[in-house]
Amino acid sequence: METIKLNNGLTCPVVGIGTFMLSPADAENSVREALNMGYRLIDTANAYVNERAVGRGMKESKVKREDIFLSTKLWPSEYENPHAVDETLERLGVEYADLLYIHQPAGNWLAGYRQLEKAYREGKAKAIGISNFEGKYIEKLQSKWEIAPQFIQVEAHPYFTQKELRKTLDQYGIKLMSWYPLGHGDKSLLQESVFAKLGEKYGKTPAQVILRWHTQMGFVVIPGSKNVAHIRDNLNILDFTLTDAEMAEIAQLDKDMRYYHRTDAQLEQFASWRPDFEKI
Ligand SMILES: NC(=O)c1ccc[n+]([C@@H]2O[C@H](COP(=O)([O-])OP(=O)(O)OC[C@H]3O[C@@H](n4cnc5c(N)ncnc54)[C@H](OP(=O)(O)O)[C@@H]3O)[C@@H](O)[C@H]2O)c1
Repeated sequence: METIKLNNGLTCPVVGIGTFMLSPADAENSVREALNMGYRLIDTANAYVNERAVGRGMKESKVKREDIFLSTKLWPSEYENPHAVDETLERLGVEYADLLYIHQPAGNWLAGYRQLEKAYREGKAKAIGISNFEGKYIEKLQSKWEIAPQFIQVEAHPYFTQKELRKTLDQYGIKLMSWYPLGHGDKSLLQESVFAKLGEKYGKTPAQVILRWHTQMGFVVIPGSKNVAHIRDNLNILDFTLTDAEMAEIAQLDKDMRYYHRTDAQLEQFASWRPDFEKI
């Protein structure tokens, strides 16, 4: 598996599986199948309410814990809970997370970030990250962090390439992990003619061409899927390379278009919502 080097010297696989909106049963199944076919990066979150299922999928797979790069995220309701990290690890059934994010710049996010830094110092998180901290939020955090994050997880795909944000990331060696890498399955993105053309050239599906574009942009991708054939396809993207001219052609699709528009009112709602965590 191809990896990228993080600003703390660790490495992370460039392709993983995301579990947003997967029911516990689907998450358990997708994680087990993904690991058994060669995935080594899994992304979940408190808010997905499937961490126990992800942990079960990991245990049912043939892969050892130390060979898995496990990423999860603290939800804002947990930022001031001093047991949030331990409770997260308990649900996942692990002693440490490879990557621990704060999920949203909502509520007392600085308290959340301090929890990440503490977990990092204690070895409970091998790397730390910020999710959805674009613009003013990363600017505010920069003057306050004691440990710089290794990752930011944000929406990114060929219609929205995070040009502005990447200038800041480059200063600190922070890596970008793309969410909605396939536009959340949007047909108009998947059906762009350039992906069909390149897919034909390389013997790949349009989705595989898009995912390869992400990795060649230097992004880590975590496409979500509960379909085993898609999960297999999404891993099988590292045996071809798009040329500079092809990357430039794809760059023309950038229209600064997000699928998800978060408002300040939503951030307030996020701060007051608590996930109904799985009991078993
Ligand atoms: N930090 C955040 O706030 C945040 C927000 C959103 C997402 N995320 C993370 O990012 C991950 C990815 O985002 P996402 O899952 O929402 O969107 P996505 O990966 O862009 O798209 C997932 C959709 O694409 C379909 N799909 C997957 N592989 C495919 C393929 N090879 N060909 C055609 N269709 C395919 C899936 O359907 P099938 O199940 O049928 O394959 C699903 O409907 C999430 O799972 C989560 O881990 C984080």
